[in-house]
Amino acid sequence: MFLGLDLGTSGLRALLVRQDGEIVASAMAGYEVSHLKAGWSEQDPANWVAACRTAIASLKKTNEAALSALRGIGIAGQMHGATLLDSDGAVLRPSILWNDTRSHSESATLDAVEGVRALSGNIVFPGFTAPKLLWVAKNEPEIFAKVSKVLLPKDYLNFWLTGKYFSDMSDSAGTSWLDVGARTWSEFLLDASGMHKNQMPELFEGCEAGATLRADLAAEWGVSENTVVVAGAGDNAAAACGMGILNEGDAFVSLGTSGVLLTAKESYTPQPETAVHTFCHAIPGRWYQMGVTLAATDSLNWLAENLGETAEALTSALGNTISPPGEMQFMPYLSGERTPHNDSRIRGAFLNIDISAKHPDLTRAVLEGVGFALRDNFEALKSAGADLKRLVAIGGGANARYWVELLATTLNIPIDIPEKGEFGAALGAARLAIVGASDATIAQVMTKPAIAETIFPRTELVAAYETAYQSWRKIYPAIKALK
Ligand code: XUL
Repeated sequence: MFLGLDLGTSGLRALLVRQDGEIVASAMAGYEVSHLKAGWSEQDPANWVAACRTAIASLKKTNEAALSALRGIGIAGQMHGATLLDSDGAVLRPSILWNDTRSHSESATLDAVEGVRALSGNIVFPGFTAPKLLWVAKNEPEIFAKVSKVLLPKDYLNFWLTGKYFSDMSDSAGTSWLDVGARTWSEFLLDASGMHKNQMPELFEGCEAGATLRADLAAEWGVSENTVVVAGAGDNAAAACGMGILNEGDAFVSLGTSGVLLTAKESYTPQPETAVHTFCHAIPGRWYQMGVTLAATDSLNWLAENLGETAEALTSALGNTISPPGEMQFMPYLSGERTPHNDSRIRGAFLNIDISAKHPDLTRAVLEGVGFALRDNFEALKSAGADLKRLVAIGGGANARYWVELLATTLNIPIDIPEKGEFGAALGAARLAIVGASDATIAQVMTKPAIAETIFPRTELVAAYETAYQSWRKIYPAIKALK
């Protein structure tokens, strides 16, 4: 039996999985994000631990016999967060999360340092870990002076589970301290933000054992003291493992809170002059590239909330199949944008609102705006060398067939919808544990999901969506100029 944990932004999901990949049970425990000031986003690591305890206790209650056969644990986590520990392993301040933009000026400073982009393979985005430490050094020097270890969120749970400091390549790639090509901490990058290698956890590949479970937790949960905790992965790399997105050209689109377009790479081909992210994959010898649009279902949910409807009611009102694009246009930059603009200050917009506009027109504009933002990501990946021939769609938004057909037509490639089931980050994390704590191979474990339906581009509408996208693209420079 293997346990996959997904330490998300709003809660922790635990999945108990057999070696053959069959799901046995799952449990969930939520926690809050605190926003003390505009642009701030923090969590108390004690809440992650409490959620983990709650989820495991619930699995123990419902599936004690299965849990007692546990051999390995893997964790997938929200990336980029900075959890600061003193020399006793005590947390120094709340963890500063991936969607916290307080360090935007520090990230620009670091990004401008010659050699930083080349080694880290990426722009230093405001949400990444390194600029957060520059912010702490400047604004909370007494805390900075005590920082003995900096851990990513899931590595704090790795530490709590084992008492050891370790991380994996995929999550560490989002710190701006990793030499992403060489898969090692870079003294140069660490030095650029006043950090030292001894403040970093030990690095492993995601499917390698980092340590074994603490004896007291093993006793409490009724599992073996030899239970292996693998290094785990950042959430997107883990989701890719959950869907067998491992080889060149394999790709998924996630219509979640944010929209992600991710493709696996068999070589390291960074494009740090663009806002395409290039990170290590969670398995050896692989990387991935992705584009991120920050508000995908977030845009739809925002609209639904303000119209006093549910997102599902809004999308069902459009039906299952698309019409030509509407006149009204929407820019989904409610929380700024990452790819391709790297612009944390830009905000959203509706354009061309006609007096006849009703809820379905607004919904259609929102779905199209997110679709076009993903087309921007698709173009960014294409100019980074990716040749995407088809995608698998995941995330809550993929339940809206209209949205997926719109995307297939805008990108002009087929999109597969997996059969209902489990294939996200928690499954990916469990799969990493299976590889790390059994004799099963990556190829045996990390298979692709069964496909329920393939949604093809509507050939007769491709040209109309192309024209609409080209017109939509002109809006960003115009609204940026107005800021
Ligand atoms: C990736 C990213 C998000 C977070 C939160 O760069 O910021 O995917 O990991 O889910």
